Amino acid sequence: MLLWGIKMKFEAEVQDRLRRNACDDNLINKKNEFLIESIKAKYSYNFSWLGRPIIQYPQDIVAMQEIIWQVKPDLIIETGIAHGGSLIFSASMLELNALCGGPADAEVLGLDIEIRPHNRKAIEDHPMSRRITMIEGDSTADEVVAQVYDKAKEHRTILVCLDSNHTHEHVLKELRAYAPLTSVGSYCVVFDTLIEDMPEGSFPDRPWGKGNNPKTAVWEYLREHDEFVVDEMIENKLLITVAPGGYLKRVK
Ligand SMILES: C[S@@+](CC[C@H](N)C(=O)[O-])C[C@H]1O[C@@H](n2cnc3c(N)ncnc32)[C@H](O)[C@@H]1O
Repeated sequence: MLLWGIKMKFEAEVQDRLRRNACDDNLINKKNEFLIESIKAKYSYNFSWLGRPIIQYPQDIVAMQEIIWQVKPDLIIETGIAHGGSLIFSASMLELNALCGGPADAEVLGLDIEIRPHNRKAIEDHPMSRRITMIEGDSTADEVVAQVYDKAKEHRTILVCLDSNHTHEHVLKELRAYAPLTSVGSYCVVFDTLIEDMPEGSFPDRPWGKGNNPKTAVWEYLREHDEFVVDEMIENKLLITVAPGGYLKRVK
């Protein structure tokens, strides 16, 4: 009872601090400056997870850890594999969940339009590989979507992460294809919504930019789907995140 009380007090303090941080103009201006400069510096390419490069900001990795611990998914669906760091991260979190009494056979399903042979080999040779299945193909292609639904049939608690092609059209198609697989209480996390908040012309060599990116796709999807809400407490907590407005919680 005493421990429960201490835990609740700690949680209440965190929530109170997050609300205050969200209205702290100085903090918000500084984090916005950092995000703009760090995007220019290609900060997200600096990290690895258990030896594999992971193209994420550390803050988002910690948020994913909190979500995976809280939701205890038995399937994580990820679009966008690249070097495999996010797949290895998810598999390692599922391994820890299993060690702590979570689903024993939880697995990760990764999709990518091109899995380079050296990346595939490194992922398949990794100690976490027993929890990982990969499908090569366009994540929005009918035959790929069908394979994902086939796999999802075997599972009860599903978490979805979208991190492939960041154009509005592609992300909207991914949302329409995969968000419905998200279990109630779980999340569909849409990465790189931050693109909308960056200054005009920040991605000159990419097809996405202001007005055409994951955030605009999320806005359109949420207009059609009230079963999801943006979990703003996550971005209030992280401040530094590539997924502002992209942590979508399924509430019904
Ligand atoms: C940002 S990277 C993924 C990073 C990875 N999730 C991580 O955290 O390390 C984007 C990946 O999406 C893949 N991709 C691009 N277009 C795609 C599509 N239409 N379908 C599936 N994957 C796609 C690219 O090949 C690339 O590997």
